[in-house]
Amino acid sequence: AVERTLSIIKPNAVAKNAVGAILARFEEAGLRIVAARMLHLTREQASAFYAVHQERPFFGELVDFMTSGPVMVQVLEGENAVAANREVMGATDPAKAAPGTIRADFADSLTENAVHGSDAPETAAVEIGFFFPEGVCERTR
Ligand code: CMP
Repeated sequence: AVERTLSIIKPNAVAKNAVGAILARFEEAGLRIVAARMLHLTREQASAFYAVHQERPFFGELVDFMTSGPVMVQVLEGENAVAANREVMGATDPAKAAPGTIRADFADSLTENAVHGSDAPETAAVEIGFFFPEGVCERTR
């Protein structure tokens, strides 16, 4: 089925001027960009977005990193978009990411892993609402 998922191009990838290259990877994989915004997350926003990880040992480092510079946030639409996006991103740990994936090509470390993608349709809906509370185009073509 056609789904939507939330994607974040993280501060390390924005800093290396790879926004366009990464957006092209999504389009080449058949995903459409149906909403997008650039913003510099506050600590409150980053902590709330990653609240599920707040007891994990890497949480402080993750919030420091995610607030270190601007991020590009987009909603991607396509057939099985959640899984399709996870496939083009590659594994969370770039050392385990398949060749040719975004993380293999643009990640700097497990924390600075270039992109985030929703892990399930239910979390995608919550994450899309977090960044686009005003809503997203219902129909884009
Ligand atoms: P992301 O898919 O955005 O979800 C949580 C993020 O925490 C993850 O990508 C990484 O940027 C970061 N992270 C840092 N250390 C770890 C770890 N040990 N396991 C999972 N995620 C980690």
